[in-house]
Amino acid sequence: MSLPDKVEIIEVGPRDGIQNEFNFIPTEKKIELINALSKTGIKRMEAVSFVHPKYVPQMKDANEVLNGIEKSPSVQYMALIPNKKGYDRAIESGVNSLSLVVGASDSFNLKNVKMSREQSITNLATVIEKAKANDIFIRYSIATAFWCPFEGKVDADLVLKMVEEAEMLGADEIVLADTIGRANPKQVFELFQAALSLKTKSSISAHFHDTYGMALGNVMAALEAGITRFDASIGGLGGCPFAPGAAGNAATEDLVFMLHEMGIDTGIDLGQLLACIELLKPFTNRELTGHLHKVKGFQ
Ligand code: COA
Ligand code: ZN
Repeated sequence: MSLPDKVEIIEVGPRDGIQNEFNFIPTEKKIELINALSKTGIKRMEAVSFVHPKYVPQMKDANEVLNGIEKSPSVQYMALIPNKKGYDRAIESGVNSLSLVVGASDSFNLKNVKMSREQSITNLATVIEKAKANDIFIRYSIATAFWCPFEGKVDADLVLKMVEEAEMLGADEIVLADTIGRANPKQVFELFQAALSLKTKSSISAHFHDTYGMALGNVMAALEAGITRFDASIGGLGGCPFAPGAAGNAATEDLVFMLHEMGIDTGIDLGQLLACIELLKPFTNRELTGHLHKVKGFQ
């Protein structure tokens, strides 16, 4: 098995994780969580999204959250945006790193952002042009890159074309996301191997959900293909409100534990990460799906 020495974990709990929590989490609690996560050694985080508050009320305080956190100089705080309006709001909040999202599946994209895939790409192309002129880092997430909740399995060739298109548009990083957690390790290995063979200048990252319990298996397959950047969410929080049945992301603490056990450095302090779980517990009214925090006497 060929494994890297180092892996980067991108924490998406404050955005992908929290967006799916039913009860509104007070702004100061979100700030407290992001501040605590910033001290764990995590270097990049999806902190908020600038989407319509009618569709995702949990993110309505994105501006207040971004302005309330103690920004660590060693952490890149990213904001997810779906369109130009999101871009304008993010820029007003002082963001210098954006996460753009477009679904590979048309049906999902229509549900998620009310645009066809092609409309989204056209819309985001103008966003990228403006962002590039302002030296803003562009993370380009291809949602439903493996499976769609409405159309089933997604055509790998279509996703590879979208990767090439994202590269052409100027993305700094391209993320292939298993939005509904339905992919299997073989599918993951093959798609990432093919994506890496395109030799894009943009880096390529992976984003897995754990609906079928395959998130860590899929991480292993992506590692084997050569991927070294993974999204994860503290406690295993998460899920997309527009992808029925999707469970949370790979739990950050489980992923970090697995990598450390295999001798792979993440730069993250597992003890401090586990302490962040304690901050989550009071505002999630269900059991967190991550495993490590439930292990009695873990050391
Ligand atoms: N943030 C806040 N308001 C927004 C917005 C944004 N990013 N984009 C559009 N709006 C506002 C417009 O200004 C307009 O306001 P008005 O009625 O006061 O003039 C209104 O929304 C309608 O604009 P339109 O462009 O037609 O938006 P829409 O109703 O088609 O909704 C999205 C499109 C993308 C804003 C909406 O589907 C959305 O927020 N989806 C959330 C996606 C998400 O977070 N998914 C999970 C993460 S992948
Ligand atoms: Zn996700």
